[in-house]
Amino acid sequence: MNIVEPKIIFENENHKFILLGIEDSQKEGITTNQYLIVHNEEGVLLDPGGVHVFPMVLSNVVEFISPQKIKAIFYSHQDPDVSSSISLWANSTNAKFYVSGLWERFLPHFGVFDSSKLVPVKDSGGKITFSDGYSLDIIPTHFLHSIGNFTVYDSISKILFSGDIGAAAVENEGNIYVENFNSHIKNIKGFHERYMTSSKACKVWSNFIGKYDIDLMAPQHGLLYKKEEFKQFLNWFENLKCGIDIIEKIYGV
Ligand SMILES: [Fe+2]
Ligand SMILES: [Fe+2]
Repeated sequence: MNIVEPKIIFENENHKFILLGIEDSQKEGITTNQYLIVHNEEGVLLDPGGVHVFPMVLSNVVEFISPQKIKAIFYSHQDPDVSSSISLWANSTNAKFYVSGLWERFLPHFGVFDSSKLVPVKDSGGKITFSDGYSLDIIPTHFLHSIGNFTVYDSISKILFSGDIGAAAVENEGNIYVENFNSHIKNIKGFHERYMTSSKACKVWSNFIGKYDIDLMAPQHGLLYKKEEFKQFLNWFENLKCGIDIIEKIYGV
């Protein structure tokens, strides 16, 4: 078990991108990364995680910003490790919750929840806009792995939050970055082959993301990818056979 303290992975005079820490949840589920963007005096949380990590994430958030200043909480998709703490965040902040319109009617099943706080994102994507007009891009990432799935690009830090893309269930041993992509493949291969739905979905997203200038890819699980390792990852990912490409193998026939 390793816990990483909150770490600022990008900072300038009015903008911070923070890895809030990696919780010890090995007994309770897969370990997740939570991220906070602070722009001027406003915050945006990315995939803040499940119910059991809420106290840790909240206490890490308050090191950087008052919960009342969190204006948006983004969910890459509907999985419980992403979003099951939604009613706790709804009670602790005035944030709007950005999630695929496909999941709008499902999230209240995680608890009593005021659905007027939900901002359903269209399939073609959208933006999360701060008071000064700066906005984060919400990028279509469907079928990778959820049918209604998004990633987020922050053009100030040039960080791509990739949700489950690039995710690995791996001990970080204190380091938060992939050091050698080729030796990291063994940590991501099985997950991506089974949880990503098809090589076509991988290729469409890889081409779409190619127009963004990305210095760092930050997934919801495991290590982060710097520019060079991200390029190597994308090259591997866009050619991956997965999901329905290998359905006979999954069925065992
Ligand atoms: Fe997921
Ligand atoms: Fe996940």
